[in-house]
Amino acid sequence: MNTDRGQLFSDALQKEIKSRFHYVDHDMNGRERLFFDNAGGSFRLKAAVDQFARIDALPDCPERIHELAIYLQEVQAKGTEDLRTILNAQGGSVYASLTASGGMFDMVRAIAEHIPGTNMVTTVLEHPSSFDAMSLYAERTGKELRVARSNAVTGGIDVQDIVSLIDQDTSVLSVIYASNISGAKLDIAEIVKQARAIKPELYIVVDAVQHAPHGLIDLQATPVDAINIAPYKFFGCRGSGMSWLSERASVLPHHKLAGKKKDFWDLGSAAPWQFAVVTEIVNYVCWLGSQVEEGGDRRALFSRGIRSIELHERALLARMLDGSEAAPGLRRMDNVNVFLDYEDLRKRDLILAVGIENLEHAQAVREYEKRGVIVYERVASSLYSRRMLHSFGLEGAVRVSPLHCHSVEDIDRFLNVTLEIGRAFANPAAVAVGARS
Ligand SMILES: Cc1ncc(COP(=O)(O)O)c(C=O)c1O
Repeated sequence: MNTDRGQLFSDALQKEIKSRFHYVDHDMNGRERLFFDNAGGSFRLKAAVDQFARIDALPDCPERIHELAIYLQEVQAKGTEDLRTILNAQGGSVYASLTASGGMFDMVRAIAEHIPGTNMVTTVLEHPSSFDAMSLYAERTGKELRVARSNAVTGGIDVQDIVSLIDQDTSVLSVIYASNISGAKLDIAEIVKQARAIKPELYIVVDAVQHAPHGLIDLQATPVDAINIAPYKFFGCRGSGMSWLSERASVLPHHKLAGKKKDFWDLGSAAPWQFAVVTEIVNYVCWLGSQVEEGGDRRALFSRGIRSIELHERALLARMLDGSEAAPGLRRMDNVNVFLDYEDLRKRDLILAVGIENLEHAQAVREYEKRGVIVYERVASSLYSRRMLHSFGLEGAVRVSPLHCHSVEDIDRFLNVTLEIGRAFANPAAVAVGARS
């Protein structure tokens, strides 16, 4: 079967998926709304929120010998294993921190401070959590920071533009899995292969925060040294970043209590709920996988589940762009610009950058909200977007990020709202005299 334009879940499965998440169709006050800002924090699984409350309700310290302390240790061990399931990682260390940024700064620091070299390589599309960590530790260790440029056609970074910056003196490469502005996926497998062909022992760090909820990561096929995810963007809860380090990276000197093992990274008291939430994420994706086909181990089920998410989201992306009889697609709307609109949908996560003519992006966000749709403006004045937008020659965009929980009807509703806003602001003169209301 050709899946270049994705494949939707059945209606029955779609309904069942929606019922497993909080607030997909309504907000907490019961108002109908379309939440299309999942790249800023995704819908939460009901099971994850329940487990968060259930586990965090326990006063017990996991570092005790009592029955419930041992139960909490088991919860942590299972969550640790389940992060490995998500990544297809073996061995190494799992590091739970408060945010993905915190984990990233610590990992970049350990590598930059202890792996010799005269330069460090990254890309212009990195989130500040890795970009700023790389620039800070490049400066502190006296290394040159080399930054690969973006490609405004694909919305991503060409492999060659990264690899051409790497040489024998590169200490570390840090690269984002998929852009949280354009949704473009980088070809991590090829980047790792070609980078290590130049320097086999190169340390590689990957920010998988954006991509992990949308596609399969396989560290057995694409070995790296450090990688992180944010459970709150992956159907889980806020207040948690989860990272994995390879064996050699895990034993680099880092902040830790002196008495802990060399490869231990958690600093201070662990929060077992963080691990329980990872397990619920994996339980859910495995359940989805079992809807495709029963059987296989946890990783096989997880792979099938994520693959079905990827295909459903790709079909939603196709519908957003090209529409149907129910609603015209964004590409066909006269007053709407789709930025960084690369043809090959297999290379994109479900994130769109759009602009509506005659309407400032922040104002467009308000117009959407008036009509029950939550989207987000990414503008060049924001520290979270400036570098990436400018690299594409853009001043801003409205970021639209639905999730696999959404149905084609949700996409059609969004398209009709967009059509309505586009028309309302089509004539700048009319806008000036108050056609907005
Ligand atoms: C791609 C990417 N990386 C890293 C982060 C940082 O996550 P946190 O704010 O949890 O530290 C984000 C958050 O927006 C992100 O989108």
